[in-house]
Amino acid sequence: MKFLYLLLSLFCVSYSRAALVESDRLKEYHARNYTWPLPLESYVPPTEGWKNLMEHRLRQVSEIDTRRERYEGFVQTLNAAIVAPNFTQYGWGLAKAPDDLMEALRQGIREGVEKGPSEEAVIQEIVGDHPPWFVDRPDLTKRVLEELQHFPETWVGLELQPHRAYGFRLYRNNSQLFMHIDKSQTHIVSFILHIDSSDDAEPWPIAIEDFQGNLHEVVLASGDLLFYESSKVFHGRPRKFNGSWYSSVFVHYYPKYGWAESDHDVEKHYAVPPIWHEDPKHHFEVPLEVLGTGMREPTCPNGWCQTQHSIYWDGKTTKSEHGKWIAPTGEKFDFVPKRVECKDLDEQCPLWASWETDECKKNPGFMLVHCKKSCNACTIPGGNDEL
Ligand SMILES: *[C@@H]1O[C@H](CO)[C@@H](O)[C@H](O)[C@H]1NC(C)=O
Ligand SMILES: *[C@@H]1O[C@H](CO)[C@@H](O)[C@H](O)[C@H]1NC(C)=O
Ligand SMILES: *[C@@H]1O[C@H](CO)[C@@H](O)[C@H](O)[C@H]1NC(C)=O
Ligand SMILES: *[C@@H]1O[C@H](CO)[C@@H](O)[C@H](O)[C@H]1NC(C)=O
Repeated sequence: MKFLYLLLSLFCVSYSRAALVESDRLKEYHARNYTWPLPLESYVPPTEGWKNLMEHRLRQVSEIDTRRERYEGFVQTLNAAIVAPNFTQYGWGLAKAPDDLMEALRQGIREGVEKGPSEEAVIQEIVGDHPPWFVDRPDLTKRVLEELQHFPETWVGLELQPHRAYGFRLYRNNSQLFMHIDKSQTHIVSFILHIDSSDDAEPWPIAIEDFQGNLHEVVLASGDLLFYESSKVFHGRPRKFNGSWYSSVFVHYYPKYGWAESDHDVEKHYAVPPIWHEDPKHHFEVPLEVLGTGMREPTCPNGWCQTQHSIYWDGKTTKSEHGKWIAPTGEKFDFVPKRVECKDLDEQCPLWASWETDECKKNPGFMLVHCKKSCNACTIPGGNDEL
């Protein structure tokens, strides 16, 4: 698998190797019974809104003139549309982080800004007048990763493996972050924790899609914690930031059991249809540009058309509060972060898990959430007392 992946990355860089490797890739494509155009039932989840959103993006991708960008556009969109499982109903949610931790984080950022932060290495998906600043406080990012682990676990109903807390990034004036999804192996259940911004900062919403096909723009307050399925729902900051700095920390987890043994990075390549190399015969759709793994629609305001029709959350009507999480529908649910219980939620679980088709692997979104015990996808309290 590793070897093939290496070749695939080479293949994106150098077409002289394409013939051999493309044929291997296509073998895997056919082995998975993929067809093109995509059958409607193959979208994950198969909701009307998600299907329409992803279908539209795939049409835009197939009209990209540059081969390399077109290929990358297929890889990213297909991962979101059909390859990656969904672990929640909507794709994202909003909660609130504990005040004492926030106090320490805000202080850490202010100290870092006063001392003079370093500059982050150039990232293709971020544009602006200056690269972001970086405040390196491993003591604090470690606290976020560990102290808040039960937050995403409770939201998603799964035991998680911490991958990393990335921060602290401070975006600077006129920054934009293109719409994108995150790495498909390690960035599965994530949250963005907004810490603070300079006094001159104007509200700067994060744009994020949901499984019902809506685009939301959410203005986060300090302490707002936005959960999201990060390799599944497209998100970014297409509007320009106006102010001196704006700081968040990005925290990533993946399912602790039943996830790491598969190569999810290579799977999204196998889903790309053979027609990816055909140059477009027409341009009917709004043009989509792919930069790195990010996307933008240069002919629309803010570089992303749906920002004109987004559901805008400015924190005035729907405020995050301790003990609740808010769904993209605006509904509030009780939220008490705690250890996930190791149990099956359906009495059919042992049966499903025993099928030869290996449902726990094939259908992880459903099985790891609903049949944790039968899939051995959780820590049995007190060890082997179930045997
Ligand atoms: C693909 O289809 C064939 C024939 O129907 C079937 O035997 C095989 O199990 C399918 N493979 C997958 C990965 O679903
Ligand atoms: C995936 O999303 C669909 C549509 O919102 C939902 O019905 C389903 O329960 C979700 N899967 C899980 C495991 O939450
Ligand atoms: C940015 O904010 C400043 C005030 O801090 C304001 O004068 C200026 O008009 C704003 N620029 C844009 C493009 O909104
Ligand atoms: C950011 O840039 C805008 C225009 O590009 C300008 O009006 C504003 O004063 C700048 N703000 C800061 C803090 O540099």
